Order: sequence, then structure tokens, then C-alpha cells
Amino acid sequence: MSAIIRSVVTGVGDYLPARVVTNDDLSRFVDTSDAWIVERTGIRQRRQVVEGEAVSDLAAAAADRALAAAGRRPADIDLIIVATTTADLTFPATAAIVQRKLGCPVGVAFDIQAVCSGFVYALAVGDNFVARGQAKCALIIGSEAMTRLMDWSDRGTCVLFGDGAGAVVLEPGQGNGTVADRGVLGVALRCDGTKQDLLYVDGGPSTTGTVGKLRMHGKEVFRHAVVNISEAVVAAAAAAGVSLAEVDWFIPHQANQRILEGVAKRLGIDGARVISTVAEHANTSAASIPLAMAQGIADGRIKPGQLLLMEAMGGGLTWGAVVLRL
Ligand code: ACO
Repeated sequence: MSAIIRSVVTGVGDYLPARVVTNDDLSRFVDTSDAWIVERTGIRQRRQVVEGEAVSDLAAAAADRALAAAGRRPADIDLIIVATTTADLTFPATAAIVQRKLGCPVGVAFDIQAVCSGFVYALAVGDNFVARGQAKCALIIGSEAMTRLMDWSDRGTCVLFGDGAGAVVLEPGQGNGTVADRGVLGVALRCDGTKQDLLYVDGGPSTTGTVGKLRMHGKEVFRHAVVNISEAVVAAAAAAGVSLAEVDWFIPHQANQRILEGVAKRLGIDGARVISTVAEHANTSAASIPLAMAQGIADGRIKPGQLLLMEAMGGGLTWGAVVLRL
């Protein structure tokens, strides 16, 4: 055992746009049904931003709540990382806009683009800043308006996504270098750029000069998701030095209830230890893990000191997992 600086989650917050869109709402203008969507995905409703509601607004609102939970003020923040695929603008970074909106002092602020794996990537990067003493109080945010990227005539994708934001405050804490420490204990991150065509947006500043729409080969993505996520879960647990049986709560990226169950089955994880918000939130990309975490804390399931494992896969393909003790 030796003294070590860990990055500890000291507060969690979330924010959902007020507008609720049910499956029946969608079936009024897309050839789909509540029964099909629930059976294939578990999704019952999603939130959707309205005109004038930007990803930075969602991010700032979630960050505000995370700061309150941590007992910190905007003046304490020296690092902001926003994981998003749906930035307010091509530049500046949404993190810079969030810094201004919250009234945080000059510090480090940047975005991470790893699509649905964005929060896991951002948490891993934030962990490096904090554990190396380069940040004292960090905001790690996942914020998305995925409904802005939908082709509303493509029923294979437009029913799957929703909007929202979640945030955590990350601060240094003294540890002993054991799995009993609070903080980030193990990380596994991956990207396989050869699988780009399975899930992408068909526009961008240097190609089309447009924002583009989301395109996906659903079946292929599904297959890769279960295999890749399972691999990352095992790798992150090994990096942390814990067994999956020791994990109190699995907090997956909320893409599809069948993916959550597929991963749990493959790894022999009891579904009762998996936090699921798919039904209410749909797939909110980088926001889904902190949203699920906030819900688990709010309803009393997730408690301080418990061992959490977060995992995700998204466009890139990117995937990864983080083990942390709350
Ligand atoms: N409503 C009704 N019918 C539909 C809909 C819909 N919304 N979407 C597709 N269908 C139809 C198809 O047209 C097809 O009809 P056909 O047989 O007459 O051609 C039929 O349903 C079956 O389509 P499949 O694509 O084979 O359906 P599948 O069982 O694979 O389910 C789904 C599709 C839900 C997209 C699934 O593949 C999936 O969940 N994939 C993972 C995708 C995902 O979660 N991506 C998110 C980003 S990555 C991530 O976050 C992990």
C-alpha cells in the first residue's frame, strides 16, 4: 500500500429538456408503433430539445446540480470537459460556452468527441488531469441533443434517440492504492476506425459543409456492441483489480435494453445490478451514463462507497469502460 492521489466523484447532476415525446407521438409521422419500439428497444419515451435550447444549456443546468451536490461553486472549477456529438457550434468548444454560462474562472475547457462512449472517454481524461495534480476541481459533462441529428424519415434510427445532460464533479482524494480507495480505479478505452461505416453522421465542416444526419446499420452495431462492451468491461475490471462479482452497480450507456441484457447475460451479471433508464430517456449518447448515475443516486440505489462500472460503445467505433468507487 502506498499513498496515491485518486480522482473522486464528489457530486452528480442531471438535466432533461421538459418536452416529452412518446412512441405514439412518433407514430403519428413515422411508420412505426409503440409495440415495435418497446419490443425491439425497451424505449417508451424520450426528451427532446425545443428551438433555442442548446446543448450548452443542458450541460450548464446539469453541471449546476452536480456543483450543488458536491458543495462547490463555479469559482472552484479549473477544468471543464464536455463530451458531445451535438455541439452548439463547430467552434468554440461547448465547454468554453459552458464555462461562460456558469461563470467559471479562466481554466482548461475542451470538448471530447467519442459519440456514445464520450462520457467514459471524458471521465478517463479527467481522471488523468486530476490524478496528476493538473486540476483541483473538474466538471465532466455528457450533453447531447441527438434528436437534432435525426433523419425523421428513417424509422430505423429516429425512434432510438433522445436529449439530455449529466455531469459529475471530479476532485483529488487521498488513496492507499487499493480497491478500497474512493475514485477512478480502472479504465479501458478502445477505437476501431475501420468500422466507421456502421454508425456515422453524413456531414461535417471539411467534407459537406453541413451538419448531416445520423446513419446506422443497426444489426451490425448491435452485434459489435455486445461483444466489444463485454471485452471492455472485463479489461477495466482487470485494470482496477476487481472481479465483476464485487461490482455493486453496472451503469451502461443506454442504447437499447436488449444490448444491456445481452452484455449482462454474456458476463453472467444479474440484471438487478444494472441501472436502466432506456425506457424513459432513450439513447442520449454521451449523456446517458451520467443521467443513469444521477437517477440511481436520486432513487437511493447507488450509495457512497459502492463500486460502479460504467460502459459504452458508439460511433467510431469507440467503446470503453471505467470502474470507480463512489
Ligand atoms: N418501427 C417499425 N418497424 C421498423 C422500425 C420501426 N421504428 N425500424 C425498423 N423497422 C422494420 C425494418 O424496416 C424491418 O422491416 P422488414 O423486415 O420489412 O425489412 C424490420 O423492422 C426489422 O428491421 P431490423 O433492422 O432487422 O430490426 P432489428 O431487430 O435489428 O432492430 C434496431 C433494429 C432496434 C435498430 C436494432 O438493430 C438495434 O438496436 N441496434 C443497435 C443500434 C443502436 O443501439 N445504436 C445506437 C448507437 S450505438 C450504441 O449506442 C451502442
